[in-house]
Amino acid sequence: MTTALAARGVRKAFAGFRAVDGVDLALAEGEWVALIGPNGAGKTTLLNLLGGQLRPDAGAVYLGGEEITHWPAARRARAGLARTFQVPALFPELTVREHVVAARLRGRWALRFPPDAEGVEELLERCRLLERASRRAGELSHGDRRLLELAVALALEPRVLLLDEPAAGLSPAEVEGLLALLGDLRRERPSLAVLVVEHDMDVVFELADRVVVMHRGRVLAEGLPADIQRDPEVQAVYLGARGP
Ligand SMILES: Nc1ncnc2c1ncn2[C@@H]1O[C@H](COP(=O)(O)OP(=O)(O)OP(=O)(O)O)[C@@H](O)[C@H]1O
Ligand SMILES: [Mg+2]
Repeated sequence: MTTALAARGVRKAFAGFRAVDGVDLALAEGEWVALIGPNGAGKTTLLNLLGGQLRPDAGAVYLGGEEITHWPAARRARAGLARTFQVPALFPELTVREHVVAARLRGRWALRFPPDAEGVEELLERCRLLERASRRAGELSHGDRRLLELAVALALEPRVLLLDEPAAGLSPAEVEGLLALLGDLRRERPSLAVLVVEHDMDVVFELADRVVVMHRGRVLAEGLPADIQRDPEVQAVYLGARGP
């Protein structure tokens, strides 16, 4: 089993508060892992440590066996580690197509004018954005902004994808669409490893081979989705906290 992404003993404190307090995590090639846990558990902070938006106070991060702990986010992205954000990070004035072209060309944008890149139309179609390709990102609905962020991440042709609450704020129909899109991706890119932070348990069960539960900056439990759902400790801190 080839490890696609790993964290070893990563820690991150903010003004003395340990948001991530010694986490070990490994994703195998082709594995889809859901990261769950109550608000403030440290899930986004862990994604930021993996994606390079933050540097850990201690511990190490590896991509395909290579240590990347001190690499900036852009270098990680070029090496095949892509992500989306809990709040979509887009340029409101750029069109949908321009976002995907820019991601496709990576740093080579300035070398081509007019900018063009292979595979852009297919990607827009795959992400259900073709009809809105000429719209500016700032004019899109929340659901379409989430799809565009995913299209930008996929344009990098990643081997590891980090998704922070991709279904948050989507309508039930949009969640269905997202699941179909991710299902296609899984079939067509069997070696892609995905770590998805998600509160919607239906989405977790649909997507994840394995679930990792964080609580107060640490890994509380990990296992198969059905086992995690039955775990009384997990129910107490997470599922129980969601109410009846
Ligand atoms: N930049 C920061 N400065 C100070 N504290 C922070 C910072 N980022 C996160 N924290 C704190 O670290 C803890 C973990 O936050 P994090 O965003 O990682 O949680 P989360 O599990 O993603 O929660 P949610 O489900 O609400 O998104 C929280 O208490 C948060 O307030
Ligand atoms: Mg978060």
